[in-house]
Amino acid sequence: MSSIKDIISHYSAQVDAQLEAMLPAATGPAEPLFAAMRYSVFNGGKRLRPALCFAAADAVADSDVNTAKVAAALEMIHAYSLIHDDLPAMDDDDLRRGKPTCHIQFDQATAILAGDGLQSLAFQQLCELSELDPTIVVELVSTLSRLGGCSGMVAGQAIDLAATGSVLELDALKVMHAHKTGALIEASVLMGALATGQASREQLGALKDFAQAIGLAFQIQDDILDVESSTEQLGKQQGSDATNLKSTYTSILGLELARSEAAALYNQSMQRLESFGEKADSLRAIAGFIVKRNH
Ligand code: IPE
Ligand code: IPE
Ligand code: MG
Ligand code: MG
Ligand code: MG
Repeated sequence: MSSIKDIISHYSAQVDAQLEAMLPAATGPAEPLFAAMRYSVFNGGKRLRPALCFAAADAVADSDVNTAKVAAALEMIHAYSLIHDDLPAMDDDDLRRGKPTCHIQFDQATAILAGDGLQSLAFQQLCELSELDPTIVVELVSTLSRLGGCSGMVAGQAIDLAATGSVLELDALKVMHAHKTGALIEASVLMGALATGQASREQLGALKDFAQAIGLAFQIQDDILDVESSTEQLGKQQGSDATNLKSTYTSILGLELARSEAAALYNQSMQRLESFGEKADSLRAIAGFIVKRNH
């Protein structure tokens, strides 16, 4: 089996080519908007959601150019969510992936529009999947709007803002993360499988369970990394989540229990892939990377 680095770069090359083709060139009267959209999409993201989308397609059939287009739409939604997440009205972050955030590099108005533009372009691209059966296109649009919006990411961001400054119970924290981060991860896996046109209901059910477990594990690892990168690498007393009065897995459970919770979720996610056999090896490798990553 290929290494995780090879798997991710193989899928990234395909999604990057699609993104390059889909994003408007940074010219003309709206040049700053298009430049900001490109800046935030081509800024060193790990492309985890596209990788999950491709790997889910490979688990049920074979990924193809439609998978790459769906993966690009997912990455555009992810990039938009991060641009808005970093704005002064939200997390007020100056750096993303070690570089100035979109509103610092450009300005706030351009950053807001760049997020808006990425969101609508993502849905446009799904609607233009002309090689797919229209019922599948509708299912893709419905899945992304549901899990990217009011039953997923956008609701999760609202729950996060409402909870800032208060201490959440573990169950409420899980609900927040299932929406904020888990939903788009779930969408990535489901949409990759759906776009093949060959996924059975049983397969979609197993993939949904897999994605929910690994999505939560992803967020636990994000919380662990926030503490570790701030305290070990920057020598600070606490992570940025603690500074921003955010409830996290590490603040509620402590580092050790948070680590064992992530490991338990990883094991759970592996069980749900059993029926796919070797075809799910890329999904397994990406799940392993999610819980072991150090950035
Ligand atoms: C970071 O997501 C934001 C969260 C949803 C927690 P990633 O860690 O996947 O971000 P990039 O795209 O690789 O920077
Ligand atoms: C971001 O969560 C989640 C979304 C943008 C949906 P965080 O605010 O925890 O992510 P980072 O820490 O800024 O990457
Ligand atoms: Mg945030
Ligand atoms: Mg943030
Ligand atoms: Mg975080």
